[in-house]
Amino acid sequence: MSIRHHDKMLIVDFGSQVTQLIARRLRESGVYCEIHPFQRAAAAFAGDAVRPKAAILSGGPASAARSECPKIPQVLLDSGIPLFGICYGQQILMEQLGGRVESGRHREFGRAYISALPDQRDDPIFDGFLESETEEVWMSHGDRVVREAPGFKIIGQSPNAPMAIVADSKRRYYGVQFHPEVHHTPNGGKLLRNFARVAGFSFDWSMSSFREEAVAHIRRYVGTSKIVCGLSGGVDSSVTALLVHEAVGSQLTCIFVDHGMLRRGEAAEVPRLFRKHYNIPVESVDSQDLFLSKLEGVEDPEAKRKIIGELFVQVFQERAKSLGNANFLAQGTLYPDVIESVSASGGPSSKIKSHHNVGGLPAKMKFRVVEPLRTLFKDEVRKLGRELGLPESFVGRHPFPGPGLAIRCPGAVTRSKLEILRQADAVFIDQIRAYGLYDEIWQAFAAILPVKSVGVMGDDRTYEFTCVLRAVTSVDGMTADYFPFQHSFLSETANRIINEVPGLNRVVYDITSKPPGTIEWE
Ligand code: XMP
Repeated sequence: MSIRHHDKMLIVDFGSQVTQLIARRLRESGVYCEIHPFQRAAAAFAGDAVRPKAAILSGGPASAARSECPKIPQVLLDSGIPLFGICYGQQILMEQLGGRVESGRHREFGRAYISALPDQRDDPIFDGFLESETEEVWMSHGDRVVREAPGFKIIGQSPNAPMAIVADSKRRYYGVQFHPEVHHTPNGGKLLRNFARVAGFSFDWSMSSFREEAVAHIRRYVGTSKIVCGLSGGVDSSVTALLVHEAVGSQLTCIFVDHGMLRRGEAAEVPRLFRKHYNIPVESVDSQDLFLSKLEGVEDPEAKRKIIGELFVQVFQERAKSLGNANFLAQGTLYPDVIESVSASGGPSSKIKSHHNVGGLPAKMKFRVVEPLRTLFKDEVRKLGRELGLPESFVGRHPFPGPGLAIRCPGAVTRSKLEILRQADAVFIDQIRAYGLYDEIWQAFAAILPVKSVGVMGDDRTYEFTCVLRAVTSVDGMTADYFPFQHSFLSETANRIINEVPGLNRVVYDITSKPPGTIEWE
């Protein structure tokens, strides 16, 4: 999807796990961006009617000191547009322009403090950045630049990175060793915004332009065909359905699949709320037996996701047939779902999980897929939801994964474990609401571990499963911290779960952040 009437920033993806955060930081400032993997960046640059006004070169896992490493397309260097290299992007910019990068000897991961060289403080890149003596930044690199390319000056440094910021102000080229796009560089957004200002951007992009463009794109792509949208009741699929509905109206039918792994009450509540709020047709399909029989005995998380993804499509295809052949399927896939499966734009980032609505889809699917949210983060989708008039009760809902409780039940999924899980989850969420904490938490749920332990209740020995509670704060699901509940909350909740939910005799609270953990258990 390309927006033609805004200044455009091209982001060249060298495979960093956080490339999309660059786009996000810039979008927050009203800059329209497109991400393209380095192999396709030349075509993207030359092929579009509106040329990018500037380009950002992302970080990446390769070493710029090796001759066979990914390169900046020559057409970008020849074009004369301003460039901003981040980490690997800085190193490869230096290498290609005649500087030198050294490998391996200067690894640096984590917080660092940089300062501006005294005679460089007036550089426009520093506006609002480095206003005090030092600025906190996030470093994550194995290589570093040891000689800047001709025409460049060092304008910022840290004890470990003498070339933390280099600039060639004539060509409007900048290179930074640290990552301005991550939250751990608190003022990094300002640096990127300053670069856009130096490059002459007008900062005129907003969520309402995204909405306009997305609707126009869906309309063009779907034409007069019918389209089905998998509705889960979460904010992503709701926003997707609203966008598609705005684009093609009554050509859309939403399908809500009860795969037997939903939370308590959801199978009845979601279609009812959706019909009532939006007046969009929703078909409810009870496929519990189909899903649960196919998942019987399956323990591997990736296998579970594949099975669930395939069955979803099977059910959608059956329903689509009965609707008079809908050829399109709309899904609420978000950027974090994509980056943890493949890189969003086809770039080279490593795989963590195949989120079911991405990696789990069968190769020979009859549908053409419409995923209008695949470049957005959750909080951006929430903004878009508000823009579309979605009630706050939907916008603020905690995310719920497509494979549902299956991935909160490590090991084989059984009906009895699912029932235990549903009950424990309901108590946990009830407690969170009672304490007024729901909106402070990004996502909270119970999981059931495949571990039995010995307990004592009354005068009897018990030998039951363990329930783990998970509650995290996050901005976009890419990184997360555990929520710091009071001990009294935790002990009251644990007591309630043990007393109210048969089949559990132990409750633990998961205090792992992401990374190194993930939010879900599978
Ligand atoms: P992780 O566990 O990867 O979760 O840290 C990040 C966010 O993504 C959700 N999630 C999924 N959503 N299909 C989905 O639709 C999936 O397979 C899937 N796996 C995780 C998770 O609930 C969290 O909000």
